[in-house]
Amino acid sequence: MVRRAPFVHARRALERVAFATESRPAPAGLRRALRRAGLALVALAACSSAGDPEIDPIEARVEALLDQLTLEEKVAMKGGAALVPMDGIYDAGGLERLGLAPYRMVDGPRGVRSGNATAFPVGMARGATWDVELERRVGEAIGREAHAKGANVILAPVVNVLRHPGWGRAQETYGEDPAHLGAMGSAFVEGAQEHVLASVKHFALNSIENSRFEVDVQVDERALREVYLPAFRRVVQDAKVASVMSAYNQVNGAYCSENAPLLTDILKGDWGFDGWVESDWVLGTRSTIEAANAGLDIEMPLATFFGDELLTAVRRGYVKARTIDDSVRRLLRKHVEFSLDAPAPRDASVVESAAHRALAREVAEKSLVLLANDGVLPLATGARIAVLGPLADVANLGDHGSSAVTPSSVVTPLAGLAAIADATLVETSSAVKGFDVAVVVVGLDADDEGEFIPPNGGDRVSLGLAAEDVALIREVAARVPTVVVLEGGSAITMEWIDDVSAVVMAWYPGMEGGAAIASVLVGEVNPSGRLPSVFPRSADDLVPFDPTAEAVTYGLFHGQRALDRDGVAPLFPMGFGLSYTTFEYSNLVVDGRTVTFDLTNAGEFAGVETPQLYVTFEGSAVERPVRALADFTRVELAPGETRSVRLEIEDADVAYWDGGWIVESIAYGVEIGRSAGEIELAGRM
Ligand code: BGC
Repeated sequence: MVRRAPFVHARRALERVAFATESRPAPAGLRRALRRAGLALVALAACSSAGDPEIDPIEARVEALLDQLTLEEKVAMKGGAALVPMDGIYDAGGLERLGLAPYRMVDGPRGVRSGNATAFPVGMARGATWDVELERRVGEAIGREAHAKGANVILAPVVNVLRHPGWGRAQETYGEDPAHLGAMGSAFVEGAQEHVLASVKHFALNSIENSRFEVDVQVDERALREVYLPAFRRVVQDAKVASVMSAYNQVNGAYCSENAPLLTDILKGDWGFDGWVESDWVLGTRSTIEAANAGLDIEMPLATFFGDELLTAVRRGYVKARTIDDSVRRLLRKHVEFSLDAPAPRDASVVESAAHRALAREVAEKSLVLLANDGVLPLATGARIAVLGPLADVANLGDHGSSAVTPSSVVTPLAGLAAIADATLVETSSAVKGFDVAVVVVGLDADDEGEFIPPNGGDRVSLGLAAEDVALIREVAARVPTVVVLEGGSAITMEWIDDVSAVVMAWYPGMEGGAAIASVLVGEVNPSGRLPSVFPRSADDLVPFDPTAEAVTYGLFHGQRALDRDGVAPLFPMGFGLSYTTFEYSNLVVDGRTVTFDLTNAGEFAGVETPQLYVTFEGSAVERPVRALADFTRVELAPGETRSVRLEIEDADVAYWDGGWIVESIAYGVEIGRSAGEIELAGRM
């Protein structure tokens, strides 16, 4: 257990008070900070008389509460309260006798799943913004709405690696790259935890949907530590996430909810996680003794293996009383730390507020990725636009499973375009004659991908569009210049791409998505999204993906890194995205781990570039990726403007795992790219 000296607590708490007071409104953060400060000062006073500088005020309170609990009460706290939620909220972990409010958990990653709420673009869209500060604001807004709904835990973010774009829940995570995922997930948690606890999920290696309840993912220690766990580690250690949800699947022969190497050795041991772990929902817990001893703190949504079975196991000595105490301490610790018994007042007006809708729109605008453009975009002023395709006038927000969010209204692409341009919905491809340009909106929906709730959702076996969508694109493109707007949760293959004038990847863009699409198409907004995963020419170029797999082996390579290793050119590399302007890179300086260079907007539009820093490895003792992403940033530049950009390399970006982290003394190359496939500057560290 991490014990923090009280003066450190007091100082941090007072700093937070100062910060929260400056950056109004932050009621929950401020209240927590004040409470911490109060507790810390009380402890300071107590220590000065008792002479013990090591008493942590939170831990002291936790011990005082723990002392009052019976074994029955402790065990009861380790199980969820009901199979069916009330208004989307699942309770667990409270104790009425002592007035301890329960944890009240609500989904999820693109907004709050309780009544109407702001529907943000999905996680993958937010990954495409590469905008860490924006993701912090999204987390803050979702946390604020969760609190307003009466929840105190948000079941998000998802930081599972997108190993293959066929994964049905691809849309919920941020992308395929460990460094990018960790940065985005941490930002969400820091924002959300201003108001509620966040529960990062699904720990770990959850990236096949259809066989998720059974599949056994075999992985060696190196791939585990270097590829599949870094984002979780960062969310735990840097963002101090309060809760972790174990995954449904097995890892190396043990279900994640009873996986001692994952839960006890790595999460709670190596990383010093001091919060609690809950299982994923129905079928997420598979045993009583194994799960309790492996470090599962709460069985959700209902105690079936825990509850009476667990009580009996403790009485018979199969589970130690101190194991139960460790769990209950974790539950109490976050309860005290987040002041759950003195919550800030709830303010329903924040839900779908103008500010949150504006944020949803800003995110959508920044997430759209311009993939191809022969000059047709931005659309000419006054152009007569034919809008068609099955998704043109549909609220297409993403999957209908646990991440579903219900906003009270949605701006469709047609509505967005019609509001600011001369746009008309047309029914058949021959009707586009006489229009200047056609916008065809096609892609995927909740029937095609998402959480597998048969017969809907699940994994994708083909990465292409439906045959009728391809036929429509080709028929329209034969008649007028055609812009294809794609919706979907991850990569789509595009054998038709040479037939069209432009392609925009819009993901599932949230409740304001149509307005964002329109702004980008007419040039009110210069597109700035960048792909958070590789888009291959063909699924054959990727690692194999079998949604029915009962066992699968994961290694060091997938996505962009696998294509780089195999020397296969992608359709679009990770990090790719066009703009209405052009950028120039110059003057690379590598000074130790600090990399600086100049970036110039060489075109006529103001625009945003996302330079990416990749590291290469020369003469390593072990097999390495051709290049590994280390850092990135977004830079906004006026036409003709030049700025100096600074990026950093950390040990974690270059280390490899061999029973511990090893930073080799070898020649590391430094590459600055527009994407993983467009390296603009190169040097040496
Ligand atoms: C999903 C989780 C979700 C939980 C509660 C599970 O089926 O895998 O992501 O948070 O349900 O709805």
